[in-house]
Amino acid sequence: MKNNNDMALETMLAHYGEDRFNYHGSVIPPIFQTSLFTFENMEAISRAFSTPGSYLYTRGLNPTVEIAEKKIAWLEGGEKAKLFSSGMGAITASILNFVQTGDHIVALKTVYGPTIKFLADYLAKKFNITTTFIDAGHTDNVLAAVQKNTTLIYLESPTSLVFEVLNLAEIAAFARQHQIATIIDNSWATPLYQKPLAMGIDVVVHSVSKYLSGHSDVVAGVAIASNKIIEAIFEAEHALLGAKIAPLEAWLILRGLRTLPVRMKQHSDSAMQLALYLENHPKVKVVNYPGLPSHPQYLLAKQQLQGYSGLFSFILDADLTKTRRFVDNLKYFKIGVSWGGFESLVLNLAYDGNNNVPAGLVRVSVGLENVEDLKADLDQALKLI
Ligand SMILES: Cc1ncc(COP(=O)(O)O)c(C=O)c1O
Repeated sequence: MKNNNDMALETMLAHYGEDRFNYHGSVIPPIFQTSLFTFENMEAISRAFSTPGSYLYTRGLNPTVEIAEKKIAWLEGGEKAKLFSSGMGAITASILNFVQTGDHIVALKTVYGPTIKFLADYLAKKFNITTTFIDAGHTDNVLAAVQKNTTLIYLESPTSLVFEVLNLAEIAAFARQHQIATIIDNSWATPLYQKPLAMGIDVVVHSVSKYLSGHSDVVAGVAIASNKIIEAIFEAEHALLGAKIAPLEAWLILRGLRTLPVRMKQHSDSAMQLALYLENHPKVKVVNYPGLPSHPQYLLAKQQLQGYSGLFSFILDADLTKTRRFVDNLKYFKIGVSWGGFESLVLNLAYDGNNNVPAGLVRVSVGLENVEDLKADLDQALKLI
């Protein structure tokens, strides 16, 4: 991957957006841990008020945050990026930017749970903005759900529990033709493995808490799009709702980004090995991983993705008691929500009263531990059920 400066991905991540001689040559940029910026006189601050891009107050712009935003925008192939205090901050701000009372949204049924809640409960009840939730599988499902008042199509592909894949180029082309905006949550693939903007999607959002930061020590989000869209989101939803990221967290994201390509390669290689191991295990019914030829949308995934990350799920041939025994006996896969960090994680989302998922459904986030250790861990726990 090359850009105008003819630097490859890894080199860009190391150096792009940094202006080290502004900071005494420090190889790592400072954390501008300041709420405000001061001026020599009133004339200087007046000039700053009327000059876009001036540093005034950290709820607006902050130099440490801007370095991270520049790198992420470049990585995603967008003109501009805006960091938020969480993935949900980026998601809700981006959605709000495209809707008004009475509008209609089309969204995939299997997008991230709190996003569904925001669409189905919050927007519907407070603002009479309705959402039709559709099944993945075929682009026609999206097209059939569009109404006269549809202003937004909200997508996630692959999704993060059952890993469904949508045809992004087809949906984007249709949406553009009908002047409907499109947003995609690209957290699973990361900009390394999927470039939705190049396929015609308008806005990409990420939970930066996952692979982009990668060390399980940050909660953050980002939206990437054209200058026009990001400036609109920045002026309205970002600034007015106060969803700014802390400079320290932006700095931690910069640290994460420097190793993103090597981390993703390892997550991907290990996940593929474990997915293949599980697929061939007699106690596993199915493995949901877009990188496996058995995935129902394998060919589409192969065409659309440049790689596969480390999060997948599988269904054990087991009831809830046995499934929990399996999960509880894993040593290296820690039980917890979230994913995309250095540590392997496991979660069984079936619990009493939740009939939405099969009892045997287990999701794993494959971390950076030695893959043979991880395989042996799965193996010993499978022997116990
Ligand atoms: C697919 C997906 N999107 C968005 C989010 C929300 O991000 P955050 O937790 O940073 O608000 C998550 C978090 O788990 C997620 O899994």
